Amino acid sequence: MEQLQSSFCFIFFTFTFLFSLFSFSLFILRLKPCCSCDVCTAFLSRSWSPEFVNLSDWYTHLLRKSPTGTIHIHVLNNIITANPENVEYMIKTNFDNYPKGKAFSTILGDLLGKGIFNVDGKCWRFQRKMASLELGSLSIRSHALNVVVDEIESRLIPFFSVAADKGEALDLQDVFKRFSFDSICKFSFGLDPGSLKPELPVSELESAFDRSSMLCAERAMATTPLVWKFKRFFNLGSEKKLKESIRVVKRMADEVIKKRRQSGFSKTNDLLSRFMGSISDDDYLRDIVISFLLAGRDTVASALTTFFLLLSQNPKVLQKIREESGRVIGDDPTQDPAGDPTREKLPAFGDLRHLHYLKAALHESMRLYPPVQFDSKFAKQDDVLPDGTFVRRNSRVTYHPYAMGRMERIWGSDPLEFKPERWIRDGVFMPESAYKYPVYQGGVRVCLGKEMSLMEMKIASLSLIRRFDVQVVNPDRILRFSPGLTANVSGGMPAVVVRRRELPE
Ligand code: HEM
Ligand SMILES: *[C@@H]1O[C@H](CO)[C@@H](O)[C@H](O)[C@H]1NC(C)=O
Ligand SMILES: *[C@@H]1O[C@H](CO)[C@@H](O)[C@H](O)[C@H]1NC(C)=O
Repeated sequence: MEQLQSSFCFIFFTFTFLFSLFSFSLFILRLKPCCSCDVCTAFLSRSWSPEFVNLSDWYTHLLRKSPTGTIHIHVLNNIITANPENVEYMIKTNFDNYPKGKAFSTILGDLLGKGIFNVDGKCWRFQRKMASLELGSLSIRSHALNVVVDEIESRLIPFFSVAADKGEALDLQDVFKRFSFDSICKFSFGLDPGSLKPELPVSELESAFDRSSMLCAERAMATTPLVWKFKRFFNLGSEKKLKESIRVVKRMADEVIKKRRQSGFSKTNDLLSRFMGSISDDDYLRDIVISFLLAGRDTVASALTTFFLLLSQNPKVLQKIREESGRVIGDDPTQDPAGDPTREKLPAFGDLRHLHYLKAALHESMRLYPPVQFDSKFAKQDDVLPDGTFVRRNSRVTYHPYAMGRMERIWGSDPLEFKPERWIRDGVFMPESAYKYPVYQGGVRVCLGKEMSLMEMKIASLSLIRRFDVQVVNPDRILRFSPGLTANVSGGMPAVVVRRRELPE
């Protein structure tokens, strides 16, 4: 009996191994690893790396040189474009031919399930409709504002105050990640992970969530999915860790959902409660909520981090933001309009609309450092892009906001300069076409959290700018971004904080 079992095992493993080898070679052949064009050779030998610290800059260099603003990395079967006409075509005109695709959804599938971020077609359309309806509602918007204001008053400002008193450097990236994680968790499912409490606790949810998204990103970086699929099948190494982390995230989300079912959801205003009205499948609910955590967390943190970097490099812009806020809100950051001396005055929602320069500065900052540096789709059918590029079915097509922000043909002769004035005409903020500036994507599947994120970033940055001088340590160093779904600065963003004005007792 035992012998039978072990020979069965042997046959099974041999078969699996041979089969993997076979599909691996097929995969490699399909990729055309032998392509000898200059770009592919440089890609494979990494000969670009001494000149360009990071891959995005090398792509930017190639895209600038390309007359159409489009390149083709044959070995990856990947077309990359920085041409606004192509971008419009992909994400709007012929949207249906450019879904996220199966390759992407299997990579994130274990974590995100059927959540909005990870699906196409009918399932996506349904969630999209429901979510945009909810996010557009007045009550959700005011809930979002309350969550953010509360997190700023009770955690962000006190944290910076302590850092200022102690004179110790803090890591902006880490602090903003905690800030945005607390905010998005409270907003989407009414759970407070408390990760920005003074002692910076390790939140179980946050670290499990971090680990999950990092390990998923590693899957995405792999040249072939076979290795991780193999590891997943046998529950080995990183895949074992990933499985455990995902289990923690799902368990915590499930607990919240279960409690909410018991206590009733009609009185609470978070996104989960709102979705509960129309969805009775709790696994589906959980997937939807987790998608929101992923979408709304690292993006905001990344944008805030590079915003403060650019402000450290450009004190004149900082000065102008302060002048504008003084004009619109008044000069004393500590004065509460309701006369409550214990409350520090935060910019009110109504004020935000008048802060044109601040809005311009945030957009300008994300032009140079888009939180999502590039975004890929997979072509369903053979197609031709507006610039004439032929797209074979199943190839990956990527638009590249990072490169686009650095193109002279889009932004004029000084694309690398941080100039909020680009966005202002006659004192008023003028939006740019989403196809030239696809930082929030655009078209049919434009980011659903755009307004909310701008509100969050305006209030958070302004609250800090009005109270403190935040000086990034060594602001002119060359940045390195670690690979992942969202731009993440390797080594963090250490900064020194000084209080601008003594607060009254
Ligand atoms: C600076 C902040 C943000 C940036 C730059 C940003 C950017 C993006 C981008 C590029 C996409 C498209 C991703 C893709 O389809 O591949 C996206 C989708 C999405 N974002 Fe954001 N986002 C931000 C903040 C937020 C926030 C705070 C929320 C949550 C309230 C959010 C919710 C979503 C959702 C739900 C989607 C999926 C939409 C869909 O697939 O139909 N985002 N975002
Ligand atoms: C990459 O490196 C360059 C220097 O070559 C630096 O200026 C740039 O900010 C970095 N960008 C990213 C996305 O890492
Ligand atoms: C982001 O960078 C920080 C600082 O180097 C690092 O500790 C963290 O693991 C990185 N996160 C991801 C998701 O890569």
